[in-house]
Parts: sequence; structure tokens; C-alpha cells
Amino acid sequence: MSVWAILVAAGRGERLGLDRPKAFANLGEEPLLAEPLRRLDACPWVDAIVLVAPPGWEEPAILLAEEEGCGKVRACVPGGEERSDSVRAGLADVADDALVILVHDAARPLVTDDVIERVLAPLSEGWDGAVPGLPVGDTLKRVGGDGGVEETVPREGLWAVQTPQAFAADALRRGLLSDNLSQATDCAGHVEAAGGRVKVVPGDPRLLKVTTAADLERVAEMLQ
Ligand code: CTP
Ligand code: MG
Repeated sequence: MSVWAILVAAGRGERLGLDRPKAFANLGEEPLLAEPLRRLDACPWVDAIVLVAPPGWEEPAILLAEEEGCGKVRACVPGGEERSDSVRAGLADVADDALVILVHDAARPLVTDDVIERVLAPLSEGWDGAVPGLPVGDTLKRVGGDGGVEETVPREGLWAVQTPQAFAADALRRGLLSDNLSQATDCAGHVEAAGGRVKVVPGDPRLLKVTTAADLERVAEMLQ
């Protein structure tokens, strides 16, 4: 089965607040994007990669892939306004005969072969998609505009979901190309909205998403 990965790196990184997109923030000596790109390229389960770069940053993204010797990169395309637009842009360059598509956030640099293996496994059991998740540990409250608690939400059965997310290629296409109405914030949400069955498998705390400068420091420490 051929597995294509879409690496979405096209966000602006507003909460990180640098003078360049988050994918090109410094993680140690190199741009953040280098780490997840190298890891996906080296993963034995991944056959080909479509890189989705911030608009105007395609050239540096391609140069980086070349410098890192990432031979599985088949295309580098500019992303769109929302994350789902960026995934759609990447999807357009995935080969028609791809059976499985893995979507990963470049903002989660510490992706491992193990978690990729875990999300791929349920697809051969007939699931349309599989995503890594961690059970929610903190107590959850719904809070109103004035800071007052409106409700304590039972956390039973609640999972915080990460990437990489794996999908049967036709299920992802159906989800992303047909669903313009749901407020889904991840690809799995679009697939679910289109009727797809998605399984949650154990995630990894190291898959934390770099959002703020403190997250970037944590990831840099984990790499040492
Ligand atoms: N992403 C993307 N295209 C977008 C928005 C996000 O490819 N239009 C990607 C980001 O590059 C990142 C992942 O989706 O790898 C998760 O997004 P997020 O962490 O929100 O990154 P940014 O949108 O860049 O950050 P911010 O929301 O702070 O601007
Ligand atoms: Mg964002």
C-alpha cells in the first residue's frame, strides 16, 4: 500500500510572534521544519511527501528538503488561509493511486515511527481514519465571558488529539472536498462529518505542538 504524507507547515505562527513563519523559527541550529521533515523522510512506512509551505516560502522549503537529503519529497506547494485549505492544497499533489494519506503538523516536530505505525494499523482493519490521542488529565470547565463557571464537563471518554493522522485516501478526499460547513479543526473532524469512522490510538506527550516560545524551548530540550 502506498502511503503519502502531507506535511502542513504553512501557518503564520502568530502566537509565536516572530518575524517569519513558525516553520522557519530556530530550533537549535536549524529551522523547525527540518526536524519533522527529516523524520517523515526517514520513516520506513512513508513512501512520498507533499510539503505545504507558507506562501512565498516555497523556495526556502525546497532548499531545506534538498539540504537534508529528503528524497521522498514529491512536491512543495503554498498553503491557504486556514489549516484545512493547506491540507487541500497538499492533497491536490498526492498521487491518484495513493491508498493511505498521513497528515502531520510541522509544528509537532517530534514525530516517531512508532506513532506512525500505530495510526496506520487500524486502516487495515477497515477504519477510515486513525488519530493519536491522550486521555484528558485535567478537570474541564466551561467558562462564561465573565470568568464564571457554567459547567464542569465530565472528562470521562475525552481525549486530546494530535497528529500524525492517517486516513484511507478516499475517505480524506471525501471529507475535505465535501465538507465546507463543519467547524472541524482537524482532518479527522472533516472525515467524521462526512460519515467516516475514525479510531483514536495512544498518542505521545512528545508530540506536543509548538505554539508559544516556551513550547519551542521545551522541544529543544527534548531533543538534547
Ligand atoms: N497550518 C497550515 N496552514 C494554515 C494554518 C496552519 O499549514 N493556514 C499548519 C501550521 O503550519 C502547523 C499546523 O497547521 O504546522 C497547526 O497550526 P498552528 O499550530 O495553529 O500553527 P499556526 O497557524 O502557524 O500558528 P498560529 O495559530 O499561532 O498563527
Ligand atoms: Mg493556527
